[in-house]
Amino acid sequence: MGAAGMGLELAYTPQIARETRALYAKISHVVPEIEWPTFAPTIAAINKLKREKNAVILGHNYMTPEIFHCVSDFVGDSLALAREAGRTDAKIIVQAGVHFMAETSKIICPEKTVLIPDAKAGCSLAASITGADVRLLKAKYPGLPIVTYVNTSADVKAESDVCCTSGNAVAVVEEIAREYGVDTVIMIPDKYLAQNVANQTGVKVITWEGACEVHERFTAAEIRDYRKANPGIVVLSHPECPPEVVAESDFSGSTSAMINYVGKNRPARVVMVTECSMSDNVAAEYPDIEFVRPCNLCPHMKRITLAKILNSLQTMTTEVFVDPAISVRARKAIDRMLAVKLPAKA
Ligand code: 13P
Ligand code: SF4
Repeated sequence: MGAAGMGLELAYTPQIARETRALYAKISHVVPEIEWPTFAPTIAAINKLKREKNAVILGHNYMTPEIFHCVSDFVGDSLALAREAGRTDAKIIVQAGVHFMAETSKIICPEKTVLIPDAKAGCSLAASITGADVRLLKAKYPGLPIVTYVNTSADVKAESDVCCTSGNAVAVVEEIAREYGVDTVIMIPDKYLAQNVANQTGVKVITWEGACEVHERFTAAEIRDYRKANPGIVVLSHPECPPEVVAESDFSGSTSAMINYVGKNRPARVVMVTECSMSDNVAAEYPDIEFVRPCNLCPHMKRITLAKILNSLQTMTTEVFVDPAISVRARKAIDRMLAVKLPAKA
């Protein structure tokens, strides 16, 4: 139910206009002024309620600009949000992202209330594998470590030796292969991430038939077409893309690594081969950079809206729970990941 459905007045009053002026300035490059009155009252209500309830909003880089720039307390990739969940003093975490991220936060802080504004915000990777599947893999390949992408359910994490995100997959695979003294690891469930990491590390991978429904749609031909149509363009891709797409790119990294690349290198023209909203969020910060925007939307991320975030805080729904016995085992795999040191940024 939206705020309006709850009988609340969410009018764009002169006071709301004044209160939210600085927030609009942050997104004025990507959100037309005429749309602001539809966002501002909900944004003001969320920010007020957040303070009253001692809640924090963790916003993934794929959130739309009004969520990313105007109500999120922390934004980042999956790794940064997991680290932030472990650091925050807030009593309530609202996960502006998908379900596996909220579960990860709950595993890291079982004593906190973790809310997801839409419980149906899933992920094609998380849906591709179960804990029972992992048990079968372990029986088939005894002795090989299982490296599991965070884009999975708690049940799958609980069966794993270590987790990884796109931000640390290379470092995690190298370290776990060294620790176990093996040249092969089982890396699940994203076959493309696994192949890309194998190409970068030389560690062999046994993987799973999972893929991200957003990134698997990009093709190498499409990247070559961007280059032809936009001479000099810098191509950045996410490692959930097929390896031939990564091979055509100038840089591949997690969503935050892509954002950092833009901030550091300030290319005149860039294409971010990933979910659409990310280009909007970065373009809002760098109006001088031209973003070519291929539009592949994540339908799960797009379930999260301002109205649902407000409703979530008002009604304290939907609360995310993880079975304590599973949580303890999943936590070990997450903690092992968080302990892996990343190489210093170049
Ligand atoms: P990162 O933000 O960790 O790169 O992950 C991308 C993603 O698809 C999350 O769902
Ligand atoms: Fe899952 Fe892909 Fe959506 Fe991320 S972008 S939540 S990996 S389906």
